[in-house]
Amino acid sequence: MTGHYGRQSASGHLHVASESKEPYPADVLEQLSLDAEQVIARYPQPRSALLPLLHLVQSLDGYITGRGIDFCARTLDLTTAEVSGVATFYTQYKRHPNGDYTVGVCTNTLCAVMGGDQIWETVSEHLGIGHDETTEDGKITLERIECNAACDYAPVVMTNWEFFDNQTPDSTVQLVDDLRSGAPVAPTRGPSRVCTFKQVSRVLAGFPDGLADEGIGAGPASLRGVELARREGWTAPGDGSDATSADSRGESVDGIAVGEQSSVDTPANAPDERPGGQDAQEQAKEDDK
Ligand code: FES
Repeated sequence: MTGHYGRQSASGHLHVASESKEPYPADVLEQLSLDAEQVIARYPQPRSALLPLLHLVQSLDGYITGRGIDFCARTLDLTTAEVSGVATFYTQYKRHPNGDYTVGVCTNTLCAVMGGDQIWETVSEHLGIGHDETTEDGKITLERIECNAACDYAPVVMTNWEFFDNQTPDSTVQLVDDLRSGAPVAPTRGPSRVCTFKQVSRVLAGFPDGLADEGIGAGPASLRGVELARREGWTAPGDGSDATSADSRGESVDGIAVGEQSSVDTPANAPDERPGGQDAQEQAKEDDK
């Protein structure tokens, strides 16, 4: 399949190019179906496997293609509208061909004041692309990110969701230049190398590459609060060691009374239950009686 790496249209709608509906070759479809079976087997209901299956589609096609949407719908007994609705809700699902490396510059509050805005402006100008746009060589897709959940090392840049902490405009320009030239690139934390978008998409689909536990996860800044709490003897309410905590007195915590069922304990839907489907409508009639 040929890829196009043009600028994003202003509409923001899921644009499914006709070429992206070309059927998968038989051998690719066979392997895709086998992989999908493995993913679906992890869930009590097939439709729960939609998110990882969409990642699986991206691991093959590099974005959510029309044929990928058809495959997910057919495999999970959903409509293509239902699959598209999910694919357009989450920003990790790409609506047009993605580059080999998604470079996400955090411009949320803390990173912004620590230099994230300058990083964004510099790297965007250097590459000649804006948000959710891809370089002509198909190597880099640039994104503005609203918090990488790594504020302790602001300003933070991510490449295919690996951390590059305490960045500067110069270090980020060097990063994208190295990625484009194929020079080795090592994240600040985690594994010693950065995988491609397709490789990472396969991991997100539930097929580990063995790198998840490689390298340092939390650095000293991440652990500062834990160290302080230990030194001062602070504990979280309800962990059993705080005799005065709310739930030890039988009061509600976060709106959930002690012993009351939380959403975590909510029973799964029946296998054939569908939102707004016949079962739900019949139940609603029963409730009205
Ligand atoms: S504000 Fe940038 S990682 Fe949180």
